[in-house]
Amino acid sequence: MGKVLIAFASQTGNTEMITDLLEQDLQQLGHEVTVKTFDFDVIDVDTLPDYDALLVGTYTWDDGEFPYEVEDFYIDLEGVDLTGLVCGVYGSADSFYDTYGLAIDLMADRLKNLGATMVEERLKIDLTPNKADEVKCKEFAGALTKLLQTTAQIA
Ligand SMILES: Cc1cc2nc3c(=O)[nH]c(=O)nc-3n(C[C@H](O)[C@H](O)[C@H](O)COP(=O)(O)O)c2cc1C
Repeated sequence: MGKVLIAFASQTGNTEMITDLLEQDLQQLGHEVTVKTFDFDVIDVDTLPDYDALLVGTYTWDDGEFPYEVEDFYIDLEGVDLTGLVCGVYGSADSFYDTYGLAIDLMADRLKNLGATMVEERLKIDLTPNKADEVKCKEFAGALTKLLQTTAQIA
């Protein structure tokens, strides 16, 4: 199966919980998964071609903004050609806000504009993942796998 990089940010642990679910689901589907955090790991855009797929996990902050640690990555992506890379974006947000999960949309638009093949769904989870969200994570991992297969990244 494919080599998948998951890069995520989480302040209060919700996006981290979603990351753990996706990591398990992808491993069960036979992928080789590397998990990095925007807080503590170096995520160099030059290394993205080493992977078949990239998942970005981000919470939303301050009226629809990226967390600072994710913003740097967003800026680094400027001008990078992501043609051939399968990408998906997910995260926890709070439906109390009009700007529900806007950072997820901003990141997904950016990756798409750089030529990535996107998992169509933007996986927004309201605060902490529940049982129904666990199913959504499985479906998201399944959609990513299908895209990798149809774009012939993996057998
Ligand atoms: C100051 C502050 C601003 C926030 N702004 C937004 C927002 O604009 N849109 C949104 O969907 N959620 C917003 N949230 C909610 C967080 O995205 C939500 O709590 C999320 O679960 C945090 O994820 P984490 O546990 O991975 O850090 C905000 C939370 C705080 C504390």
